[in-house]
Amino acid sequence: MSIQNRKITVVGAGYVGMTAAQLCAQKELASEIVVIDVNEGRAKGIALDLNQMAAIEGYSSRIVGTTDPKDTRGSDLFIVTAGLPRKPGMSRSDLLETNGKIIVEVARYIRDFSPEAIVIVVTNPLDTMVHLMRVKSGLPPKRVIGMAGVLDSARFCWFISEATGAHVQDIDAMVLGAHGDSMVPMPQFCTVNGVTLAHLVAKDKIAAMADRTRNGGAEIVNLLKTGSAFFAPASASVAMARAMLNDEKRVLPCACFLNGQYGFEGLYMGVPAVLGKEGVEKILEIPLDTDSRIQMQKTAGAIQKDLELLRNLALL
Ligand code: LAC
Repeated sequence: MSIQNRKITVVGAGYVGMTAAQLCAQKELASEIVVIDVNEGRAKGIALDLNQMAAIEGYSSRIVGTTDPKDTRGSDLFIVTAGLPRKPGMSRSDLLETNGKIIVEVARYIRDFSPEAIVIVVTNPLDTMVHLMRVKSGLPPKRVIGMAGVLDSARFCWFISEATGAHVQDIDAMVLGAHGDSMVPMPQFCTVNGVTLAHLVAKDKIAAMADRTRNGGAEIVNLLKTGSAFFAPASASVAMARAMLNDEKRVLPCACFLNGQYGFEGLYMGVPAVLGKEGVEKILEIPLDTDSRIQMQKTAGAIQKDLELLRNLALL
């Protein structure tokens, strides 16, 4: 598939959506980028602004702003950001009902107009919303993926970079599990240019960085007060989009549908996966120590609880 006839739709023109659209254009991931939002002026305004920026930045993607789901027809990939963000003091699960209804609506038009698409879900509470998208769109699990691990790992990378003075690109960090308070940072798999983190940073400092990663989203919500993080979340979703559209086979942690892997069945959860043109082409199963396994059990429990709430709301 050449970029000339590629189409990406970004659902939701809030901060994450608009930044994702900008990054898709600047990286020229598609010839057409549709930005769809319930607010017509916002969708059209952002599209126009981005089209005008092309004259300066030199990209050839064309941006379309719309409220009409039919304009998304035949999209190769969706980045779904629609929904309310958290306010200070809220957990991601507090958004379950409002955002769940939005996801059901979006899933319907993806199913009707773009059944061959790959869907990246960013909307919170992430692990539940991606599950709901999978069920309601009817798309195969390998083509419905949640963005969380790339963002959470990037946050961990930054803290490690600050602590060690090393360039972020020399750092590999891994965060698995849910995108919530029960996420599982894996310092034992973090390296600075191949050197295990424990050789470079004291144990208590590593634990503090893991904690800060767990609260990484809330820290920014509390600083911004009127919204949540958007640069890194948008960038993380676009990195996943690029890996799949360009068949890069990158290994990225993302929320994937587990079918027995890590001992879980029928559940979306953050695990390392190979992303290529088919979507999730492989889930990597890394051996976990007892402590990490217990944490993964806990994180699975938290996701199950949210799924139960969704069922009680008759959304799932
Ligand atoms: C965050 C939101 C996007 O972690 O969940 O910042």
